[in-house]
Amino acid sequence: MRAITYSQTGDSSVLTLGERRLPEPGPGEVRVRIAVSGVNPTDWKAREGGRPFSFPEVTPNQDGAGTVDAVGAGVSSVSAGQRVWVYLAQHERPTGTAAEYAVVPAERAVPLADDASFALGASLGVPAMTAHRALTVHEDGPSRLAPGALAGRTVLVQGGAGAVGHAAIQLAVWAGASVIATVSSDEKEALARAAGAHHVLQYPSETLAAGIRELAPEGVQHIVEVAIADNAAVDVEVIANHGTIGYYADNGGDTFSAAVRASFAKNVRWQGLLLYTVGETALAAAAEDVSAAVADGALPVGGDSGLPLTWFPLDETAAAHDAVAAGATGKVLIRVSDED
Ligand SMILES: NC(=O)c1ccc[n+]([C@@H]2O[C@H](COP(=O)([O-])OP(=O)(O)OC[C@H]3O[C@@H](n4cnc5c(N)ncnc54)[C@H](OP(=O)(O)O)[C@@H]3O)[C@@H](O)[C@H]2O)c1
Repeated sequence: MRAITYSQTGDSSVLTLGERRLPEPGPGEVRVRIAVSGVNPTDWKAREGGRPFSFPEVTPNQDGAGTVDAVGAGVSSVSAGQRVWVYLAQHERPTGTAAEYAVVPAERAVPLADDASFALGASLGVPAMTAHRALTVHEDGPSRLAPGALAGRTVLVQGGAGAVGHAAIQLAVWAGASVIATVSSDEKEALARAAGAHHVLQYPSETLAAGIRELAPEGVQHIVEVAIADNAAVDVEVIANHGTIGYYADNGGDTFSAAVRASFAKNVRWQGLLLYTVGETALAAAAEDVSAAVADGALPVGGDSGLPLTWFPLDETAAAHDAVAAGATGKVLIRVSDED
């Protein structure tokens, strides 16, 4: 099979295309014929050395979609021929999705609705599961998402045109929340609206907090936060009593500070989250709810749905990584086969 690999960390030039033996699934594993590989910031950050490199050779990319091709002993959740979306393919293992086949633990290959494209499937993993977690860690909120689960609640998505932000808007709208998103430009405002955000405000702005308070006088219950270092002060100002600020990234800086009294007076929950360490229970819940949202048609991708797709062929995986590292708007995907 054709596979992209790297055997030392570094810039994208460490990625090479080569022929590798077809991997066999072991007990509890499945082999997926990859149609589309999804690229996330974590993939280039890992390749640059941001995570421990503990294998002689790694195929990058956590997310993907394709067709189950072989199942190992004891697997009953999926069968050969089934269309699936794949998450955390390369977590603690060397077999990511930038290859014609990937062997993954069976639970990380999730059935994909028949009418959902592989492009959609490959866009789910990291972004949608992160967004799911951010929306389900509220002290008094639901731990699962479904239509109506967030009814009567207001969600603020900071960075609503990012991949995670886009998924957070779509999932929150599906679950019945009122959604306010922030973006940095008119172009991104159009994307956040296309994703379904009810209100979109632009940053940076001196009046951002006032604008959010005007839309949500009682405060917002949930904040999905990409840039806590930049936004902590605004977040504390607009959060409702007992609200949760779910922060998942260090865009904007490595440390943050916040007003202590204003924060504890509102019983604020500062909730960090990292998909790699969130735990199997949270991952399984996210996979199930995200699949239900896909089946409901609630997570479309593409420019008309607020997530423009940028495609690369497998042999240009390095360029795909560079595009994500440069902050490409929308979703960067790698076409591994011609299957849709
Ligand atoms: N913890 C986890 O498990 C986890 C999971 C997924 C992703 N991440 C991390 O989350 C980050 C985003 O990932 P992604 O795939 O969504 O990337 P992305 O598609 O590049 O989106 C990042 C978004 O953040 C916005 N942004 C930057 N600074 C902002 C600010 N001060 N206020 C509001 N928005 C701001 C950007 O908009 P502008 O450039 O227009 O400002 C952009 O829309 C990455 O650092 C990634 O590594 C972490």
